[in-house]
Amino acid sequence: MAAQLVNGGEATLKDFRLCFSLVAPGTAVSGCRMVQQVGGYMELSPELLASLVPGGCWDFAFAYDLERHHPINGTWGPTGAYLILENEELLEVQTEPMAFPESARVTVLPPEVQEPELRLIPHPAVWQASGEVCDASSGFAWNTGAADELATALDSAEKLAARCGFPEFSKEAGVSLVVQIPEEPLVSEEYALTLTPSQITLSASGYSGVFYAAVTLQQLRLSYDGFIPCGTLRDRPRFQWRGQHLDCARHFYRVESLLRLLDLMALLKLNRFHWHLIDDEAFRLELDSFPELTERTAQRGHGCLTPGVFGSGKEPSGGTYSKADVAQVVGHAAKLGIEVMPEIEIPAHARALLQVFPEMRDPADESREVSVQGYCENTLNPAMPQTWAFLEKALPEVHSRFPLGVVHLGCDEFPPGTWAKSPAVERLKAEHGLHSTDDVQEWMMSRAASIVAESGGRPAAWEEAIRGQHDGIGHDALLFSWTGSGPGLEAARAGYDVVMCPANHIYFDMAPNSDPSQRGFNWAGFVSMKDALCWDPVPEDEPELETRILGIQGQLWSETVLEDRDCEAMLAPRILALSEGAWSSVGRKRELPEFVGATTHFRKLLERWGWNCHELI
Ligand code: ACM
Repeated sequence: MAAQLVNGGEATLKDFRLCFSLVAPGTAVSGCRMVQQVGGYMELSPELLASLVPGGCWDFAFAYDLERHHPINGTWGPTGAYLILENEELLEVQTEPMAFPESARVTVLPPEVQEPELRLIPHPAVWQASGEVCDASSGFAWNTGAADELATALDSAEKLAARCGFPEFSKEAGVSLVVQIPEEPLVSEEYALTLTPSQITLSASGYSGVFYAAVTLQQLRLSYDGFIPCGTLRDRPRFQWRGQHLDCARHFYRVESLLRLLDLMALLKLNRFHWHLIDDEAFRLELDSFPELTERTAQRGHGCLTPGVFGSGKEPSGGTYSKADVAQVVGHAAKLGIEVMPEIEIPAHARALLQVFPEMRDPADESREVSVQGYCENTLNPAMPQTWAFLEKALPEVHSRFPLGVVHLGCDEFPPGTWAKSPAVERLKAEHGLHSTDDVQEWMMSRAASIVAESGGRPAAWEEAIRGQHDGIGHDALLFSWTGSGPGLEAARAGYDVVMCPANHIYFDMAPNSDPSQRGFNWAGFVSMKDALCWDPVPEDEPELETRILGIQGQLWSETVLEDRDCEAMLAPRILALSEGAWSSVGRKRELPEFVGATTHFRKLLERWGWNCHELI
């Protein structure tokens, strides 16, 4: 990429270095020399240019390292640029957005739109319209008899509506809503609604069912401008795991933003929040057992252990999640029927951890490893006693904070060559009959999983944890299939429970198309609404695998997120398709035109709330 630095100041610049970040590692191509590089952060000095006079220009070029990173939109441009001057003073640099030729623009034809059978996302299991209409424009006058749990669920739905700026749910003047526990119990999350012009009857056996019924009523009320169609609605989810992931390591999101995401998830009946708390750039979960981890890695920027990657620039910025923050997130989620799964990344993606505890690497290891994100030496060594001293304390503590009990141990993107020249790993192999690097990783993941299991929890990991001579991590671990559905299906056939998260369908950090005005990556292809909707995690010819496929989960990695609210339009509207795929049964999930029709009504809720939603549907 051709670049130009213009000296807009009044002093001549001498012996300076230009620092900026890209969304992935780059190389110097011409007119510059790489002085330092950490992941996507680079520090360049000019070649053949001793000084830059006021008004003078320095022309240079750099490129992305990997073929898979081909700049197609403004996300790829430099961010957080500043100069280090000869006296080590720092000077901010203004950056112009990347320019693309007119020929790079693409015209995306709007999809066909059909009015849906019911303006509700996700589509319910059963809906029989009676042809009448119920006036719910004044809200709902509800009565739960003596059942406290049901009243609490309605109260949560009421508060959710208030946070979203929706009209008040309960109103004495509203249509009568009778809430009852059915004689024949419904399964958890299941509910039934009978809507007549004079009364609505809600049946559910517990908190989640009542809560979801209230969410449904609220959505219908807004989508139909107060006048809800009458009929019989019976609803339950297809999958027990309906997840959304958020990477809070590459970008630190304030707790309020996490609560807002949980609110969106609840409106869409999603029920698992995968909280990615730790990665190469930061360790964001405060632990009593190792307070120095967050103290030293929370902030990044000039002079910090992690430089100003992903646009953070020279000023230190970032943050951590305290015990009280975790309790707030978990508590807010619980009221919305959502459970939280934390992720602690091992063995790779651990640069931040290793910056604080380098003794978790073999000092005699001469391997040269570089992660796909451009980080050197980001992998723990399982042959070092300090690795286990850390995991044996940290994992039980992490487990104790999250009532769901599932602790995700990472295990993705092991950098090639890692451990290859570690004498300690050679000894470990001989001692335990391990032959390959996969076997070493398997040994490590299995041992870490046993720590989680002994704490009373369930381990989880990305798909790579199935590798090794004994079919992987074991310990009843839950596996997350991300490179596609294939590895998840393989794991399901091997007896693992799996969650499908295929990047080409539900990675919301992928751009929806190749137009330069979009944001996001494309290493897994473009992810349009159609891609997010039109796939099924269970192969038609292996329906028996459905018992092992616990559900699906959207991912949002945050390399391209500069502000908390950037995530909103990356998620919406595609997260609506995630909801439909996770909840609606095979015969009920809508085809694209009808689903797009339903999104046009759901947008009214998002607009009213002020949730940024991408224009493209
Ligand atoms: C992943 O996207 N590396 C799980």
